Amino acid sequence: MNTAHKHQAKDRAQYELTSPVFFIGFMGAGKSTIARRLARLCRVSSLDLDTYIERSCGKKVREVFAEEGEEAFRQLEVDALREVAAMASPMLVSCGGGVITTPEAREALQELGFTVLLDVDADEAACRISDKSTRPLFQDTQAARELCQARKPLYAEAAAAVIDTKGKDVFRITCEVRDLLVKEGILCRL
Ligand code: S3P
Repeated sequence: MNTAHKHQAKDRAQYELTSPVFFIGFMGAGKSTIARRLARLCRVSSLDLDTYIERSCGKKVREVFAEEGEEAFRQLEVDALREVAAMASPMLVSCGGGVITTPEAREALQELGFTVLLDVDADEAACRISDKSTRPLFQDTQAARELCQARKPLYAEAAAAVIDTKGKDVFRITCEVRDLLVKEGILCRL
């Protein structure tokens, strides 16, 4: 770490999480980016659920979809959610966009932590996603629009709070999420 970075880290306030926070939302909503940026800003830990699954099973998400199918992936997702929520210290967890598709996972999201929906529409998401090859369920924009629409009620059911990300930059969204979590007593300044 160079001196400038050291100072930045020292100048940032230290927070702690009182419960795991799950970020949900459609592909391209910015879940992983926001979890990472907020973790850095508040000096707490973050974890990406897809990466956790890939490490646990030794396969890329697209390989699991291709070789074992979506249902198998959804089971891995709900198992991972439970494992992560049981970890000793709570974290900011970015989930895959389809985590809300099974009732088991929606129940886990509601019971095991505080779930924040980062809301985005499929057209804005399409602009944000640079590499669609890693996302088996985002191959063309019209199909993504329909999927996004169909999932809307499931996101609403699982979420404890919603942040509208439309037209906002990463820093603004990160600050809005921080303020929300502080207000909810989930993120506490030490
Ligand atoms: C999926 C979203 C992806 C990944 C998988 C399935 C979905 O995660 O979990 O490709 O069903 O919406 P991101 O939302 O991080 O792209």
